[in-house]
Amino acid sequence: MKIFLDTADVPTILKHFETGLIDGVTTNPSLIRKSGRDPEDVYRELAMAGIPDISMEVVEDMIGEGRRLSKEFPYVCTVKVPCTPEGLKACKVLSDDGVKVNVTLIFNAAQAILASKAGATYVSPFIGRLDDNSVAGLEVVRSISEVYRVQGVKTQILAASIRDVYKVSRSFWNGAHIVTMPPKIFEGMYNHILTDKGLEIFDADYQATISRSKAFPIPEINNRKPGKDLDAI
Ligand code: E4P
Repeated sequence: MKIFLDTADVPTILKHFETGLIDGVTTNPSLIRKSGRDPEDVYRELAMAGIPDISMEVVEDMIGEGRRLSKEFPYVCTVKVPCTPEGLKACKVLSDDGVKVNVTLIFNAAQAILASKAGATYVSPFIGRLDDNSVAGLEVVRSISEVYRVQGVKTQILAASIRDVYKVSRSFWNGAHIVTMPPKIFEGMYNHILTDKGLEIFDADYQATISRSKAFPIPEINNRKPGKDLDAI
């Protein structure tokens, strides 16, 4: 199970990367626009920080751009292409070159089948956008997973367009290998009101124990001989 962050906000990515739980980052033109940054500055800073897998979306001249980006950012670059005839063609050519490709904007198993035939490393079904359109996004993840399992396909399912924490665990449960999520959802994965309440009680009990130990110190036993002095304690 891998967790990717779905954002181009470098400081936020680096803060969460410090947990050791982030396996990669996905970006798209909308996220890059929101960041107000040059895309390649974003990729460079992430690569320098050690982010192992960065999805970089190409729009025009997909094959040429994909080749250029994979040379510019070796080891970390995953070229992201849309599930269109041009995108799938680029996927095939780049995959044959040994470049990792993420086929994005996947909304059903048929598209995922074409992407896997084109050699995709990842397919990205958009769960939230499917749900917005009255189609159960998790069901689509499930059906892609079943087709891939039955056919022994190596392409991995990267569940995207995640809007709540529940969808993270259900995506994995339904066969996703990776879930990419906005930082807020990642934070929501470890935050829980009962964890906070429980911690409050444990902290108070810990503090009470510490003050009692200071008032009544435990006798020094290090220099006593077992069987003799210890029996006397
Ligand atoms: C990730 O690869 C996608 O671009 C992203 O998850 C889309 O999410 P959205 O539907 O919330 O824009």
